[in-house]
Amino acid sequence: MLKVSFVILSLSAGVFAQAAPYAQCGGQGWTGATTCQTGWTCVYSNPFYSQCIQGSASGTTTTTKTSTSSAPSSTLTGIAATAPTTPPSTLVGKLPALGWNSWNAYACNINEAKILAAANQFVSLGLKAAGYQYVNIDDCWAKTARDTTTGRIVPDSTKFPNGLASVATQIHNLGLKIGIYSDAGTNTCAGYPGSLGHETLDVATFSDWGIDYLKYDNCNVPSNWTDAAQPQGNDWYNSNSAVRYRQMTAALATVSRPIQFSLCIWGTAHVWDWGARVGHSWRMSGDANPSWGYITGIITTNVAHLSSINFFSHNDMDMMEIGNGNLSIQEQRTHFAAWCFFKSPILLGTDLSLLSSDELTIIKNAELLAFHQDATVGTPAAPFTAFASMPTTSPPEYYSGKSSKGVHVFIINTSSASATKQFTFANVPGLGTTGSFKVHDMWSGTDLSGTYTASSTFTVSVAAHDTVSYLIKSA
Ligand SMILES: *[C@@H]1O[C@H](CO)[C@@H](O)[C@H](O)[C@H]1NC(C)=O
Ligand SMILES: *[C@@H]1O[C@H](CO)[C@@H](O)[C@H](O)[C@H]1NC(C)=O
Ligand SMILES: *[C@@H]1O[C@H](CO)[C@@H](O)[C@H](O)[C@H]1NC(C)=O
Repeated sequence: MLKVSFVILSLSAGVFAQAAPYAQCGGQGWTGATTCQTGWTCVYSNPFYSQCIQGSASGTTTTTKTSTSSAPSSTLTGIAATAPTTPPSTLVGKLPALGWNSWNAYACNINEAKILAAANQFVSLGLKAAGYQYVNIDDCWAKTARDTTTGRIVPDSTKFPNGLASVATQIHNLGLKIGIYSDAGTNTCAGYPGSLGHETLDVATFSDWGIDYLKYDNCNVPSNWTDAAQPQGNDWYNSNSAVRYRQMTAALATVSRPIQFSLCIWGTAHVWDWGARVGHSWRMSGDANPSWGYITGIITTNVAHLSSINFFSHNDMDMMEIGNGNLSIQEQRTHFAAWCFFKSPILLGTDLSLLSSDELTIIKNAELLAFHQDATVGTPAAPFTAFASMPTTSPPEYYSGKSSKGVHVFIINTSSASATKQFTFANVPGLGTTGSFKVHDMWSGTDLSGTYTASSTFTVSVAAHDTVSYLIKSA
């Protein structure tokens, strides 16, 4: 993958007040503070947004970093010198995955009936028609020991009495795809066999069953695979962590079946810098939970790495918690909208039969899903300066992005401040400074009344923790 343009702004301190942790500190039209508090660094995110990130951003010196190409292999030693450099399949994974994963609903309490029920609910609830495709089995599907003769991982015969090839066939017969789970360590997080050192055999097994997607976790890593503070050549692609995942990428290339590869690496080893050279998506953090704090926290994390997102290259914000916990309907809308406009994989993580009609309406919203699944624009929405003297929040509240339909604006109400949300059309990247516009509400699928010029300001009252989603059309 190419890119990652970190530019560290180094304006002399004292000219402006210093921006707070995670606050905006630069970007086109930005007039606020451009330096951060001690211990924080202003890091370029995109032409419209820079943000204070903790630390001195070591390894990202003062100039533009144009690629993450590795040091010449002759300078590498140990496992990195001989590790495979096979790229991921381009037959799958262009667009972020849409599907379901068993973990948040059932944890280890899975079986064939529950997996097939989810698959059937994709059809009966209209999720398949909306584009949801992957029915993914998480941890705890296997017996605790490999087959002593073949060395293969064996499905738990109590949970899956007919085996997983049978489950895969039934899911394929519904026009859907099936995902499985393994781990780049000795054992999975729940203690079942891991695939480190068994990659080729395990991929052959998954391929024989008809598996379409692999979530590859990061538990039980042997001590000789841990990483030094700086990997060889200062390139995390050559870290031991990356090599554990690269071994699986190479194994996936040994079977003709294309298998989408999800790196569940918890946002470690600077995965956003090299993930696209190894898989199709990568987790940005530890596990999600159904809280407003998780949603705003992962948005903030992701905002610093939006340049990693494009076709075949997706920052994974983890499972959809819609249906779990106490999230308000407004918070659920923000959860779904942000995963859509950042093009994160969307894997529903609940018992689908318990979703309310309001929740189903959110996760089937055709216009947000169209933005997420756009086949001609791979880049996500990004923060922008919506109006002069805009206050900063963490995470940012104003985002814009392009789709094949045009230019979009998304506004999150994150704070308890009662300021009206607003944006000036000319400030929206891509709209230009002439012309007239109408605002189309993506949630309701309707055009709002009113026609605006480039210098007009649009205002809207956004409910607490809600997100409004617009397509800006030419009037
Ligand atoms: C760790 O040890 C195992 C077993 O000896 C070996 O196969 C593997 O390559 C080692 N890993 C690293 C990073 O050296
Ligand atoms: C739901 O909210 C209540 C308080 O409003 C809290 O005590 C409880 O832990 C929450 N449940 C979940 C699952 O977050
Ligand atoms: C946004 O939500 C906050 C509560 O978090 C509320 O106080 C405020 O009035 C809302 N803003 C608007 C413009 O509705």
